[in-house]
Amino acid sequence: MGNHAANLQQVSGEPQPSARVLAITSGKGGVGKTNIAANLALSMAATRRILLLDADMSLGNLDLILNIRSKYNISHVLNGYKRIEDIIQTGPRDIRVICGASGLHELADINEYDQQRLIQHLSGLQNDTDVILVDTAAGIANPVVSFCLAADHVLVVTTPEASAMTDAYGMIKVLVRKGNPGPISVVVNMAHSVAEGKRTYQRLADVTGRFLQAKLYYAGTLLKDDRLCRAVRARTPVVLAYPQSQIASSFSALAARLGGVACERNNQNTFFRRVIRWLS
Ligand SMILES: Nc1ncnc2c1ncn2[C@@H]1O[C@H](COP(=O)(O)OP(=O)(O)OP(=O)(O)O)[C@@H](O)[C@H]1O
Ligand SMILES: [Mg+2]
Repeated sequence: MGNHAANLQQVSGEPQPSARVLAITSGKGGVGKTNIAANLALSMAATRRILLLDADMSLGNLDLILNIRSKYNISHVLNGYKRIEDIIQTGPRDIRVICGASGLHELADINEYDQQRLIQHLSGLQNDTDVILVDTAAGIANPVVSFCLAADHVLVVTTPEASAMTDAYGMIKVLVRKGNPGPISVVVNMAHSVAEGKRTYQRLADVTGRFLQAKLYYAGTLLKDDRLCRAVRARTPVVLAYPQSQIASSFSALAARLGGVACERNNQNTFFRRVIRWLS
C-alpha cells in the first residue's frame, strides 16, 4: 500500500479487515452460482456471520431465491438517497444480503472523497462478519474478474458439460494470468454421480496444471436434483425446503471443505478497497 493510501486508511479510521471473502464465479451462465451462493450461505450460517453480495448486474436473482425484497441497492447509497444500513436485507438464519452490489462498479468513477466515504462504510461491514460470499455474474467481463481478484478465495462452478468446463477454464486462465493471489476451488454442479463430478474436476485440474502451472482444489460435487428446481419455484433455498436431503448434506460438506482451504493474504486492504483498485 502506498503512503497516501495508508494515511487515508489511518485518517478514516477504517477497520482492519477480518471477514474472509469467497467469490463464486463460473464463466458459463446458468450453472448454479446463485443457488450455490444462497445455500452455501445458509449452510455456513450455523457457525459464522455471513454477508451475501449479489454482484450480478444484469439479472441478479438472489432476492428471488431467498424471497427477500430489495428496493434499494448500492446505487442509491452512491446517490445519497440511502445509507448502507438501509440497503442490507436480513434473510433466513440471519444472513445479511446486499442486493445489487453491482453498483460497486460505479465506485471507480466517483470523486475520491465520496469513494473513501463509501469504502469506509462498506469496510465497516467486514468487522462484524466472518464470511462474505459474492455471487458474480456469468462471463469474464472486467467487473466479474475484479470481484474475484479482490476476494481471498475463488469458487469456480462448472457442470460436467464440455461448454461449462471450457468456460470455467477460460475464467481460471484469466484469473491466473492476472496474478490471482488466493486459492481457486472447483465445485461440480448438476453431476449425475459423485464419480462424474470427480472426473470433471480432475480434467479441469489437469489442464490447469499443464497449461497454466496452477493448482486447483476440489470443493465437492452437487448432484442434479429436481428438489432444487422445486425449491427455486417455491422461493425457498433447497437446504431449508429439504433439510434432510442428500443435496442439503452436500451443501454442508461443501461449506466445511471451503472453510478448510487456507488463504493467507499479505494485504491489509479491505475487500472493498481491493475491488476498486482492480476496477480502476
Ligand atoms: N443441482 C441442481 N440440480 C438441478 N437443477 C439445478 C441444480 N443447480 C442449478 N439448477 C438449475 O439451474 C437453474 C439456474 O441456476 P442459477 O440461477 O443458480 O445459475 P447461475 O449460474 O446463477 O445463473 P446466471 O449465470 O444466470 O447467474 C436453477 O434455477 C435450477 O433450475
Ligand atoms: Mg446467478
